[in-house]
Amino acid sequence: MDHSPEPDAPILFFDSGLGGLSVLDPTRALLPTARFVYAADYAGLPYGKKTNEELAARVPALLGRLVERYQPRLAVIACNTASTIALPHVRAALDLPIVGTVPAIKPAAELTQTGAIGVLGTEATVRQPYVDDLSAKFASDKTVLRHGSPGLVTAAEAKLNGQPYDPAAIERAIAGLRNQPGGDAIDVIVLACTHFPLLAEELQAVAGPGVRLIDGAAGIARRIAYLTDGQRWPADPAPGIAVFTRSDDRPPPPLAALAPYGIGSIETI
Ligand code: DGL
Repeated sequence: MDHSPEPDAPILFFDSGLGGLSVLDPTRALLPTARFVYAADYAGLPYGKKTNEELAARVPALLGRLVERYQPRLAVIACNTASTIALPHVRAALDLPIVGTVPAIKPAAELTQTGAIGVLGTEATVRQPYVDDLSAKFASDKTVLRHGSPGLVTAAEAKLNGQPYDPAAIERAIAGLRNQPGGDAIDVIVLACTHFPLLAEELQAVAGPGVRLIDGAAGIARRIAYLTDGQRWPADPAPGIAVFTRSDDRPPPPLAALAPYGIGSIETI
């Protein structure tokens, strides 16, 4: 019996907000006809301010609702905060392949010439034991400095929503790494929050040409392609759906802001 998903079974992308679009983009480049649903938990944003207990309960429950509603072939937690905290809970609760997003410390350790790596994430991500483990496993002979930057999440959301944001947030984030002992030597910065690649140009301009910014999005796209290899896909591309959890103070962005990411309609749950 053929257990391969129907061709139009979507891939579900999940983030607290619009950050996961930085993961959606390279995935669409690899799998251009794949149907997709992009889910943003606007009622829960920002995840970086939540406790581990809150996220360990919220993320599997919400993903469960989304999986029931959209019947995806695979779900991508396109959020470092949710992945580093809730991935095992999600995998235990749901019966489909789950791809997580983890800080790109391994490639950073391979790239650095100075031996000093910066990790920019949310406040929740940078304090996770998961990051200690990645550092111990892949960068034990390097200096790994971390900084939590909630201001960059706010700035990335504003930028994509076409609203103004404080450019000092970018400077503060880079200074948060550079001003630590040994921070001057940083030559690779891991963007350990999916919102931050949406500000890559702005961050690069402040960090300067001697610093490489890296993130895990291309690797996640390859992982999705690998896990779905041999499955059937539609013949032609079609617009995706964005779904937002309902929030009184944060309405979904205008469709025009999401259209460049291949999204053709917006729903709320
Ligand atoms: N985009 C998310 C991440 O990768 C989190 C942003 C937030 O909700 O604080 O960590």
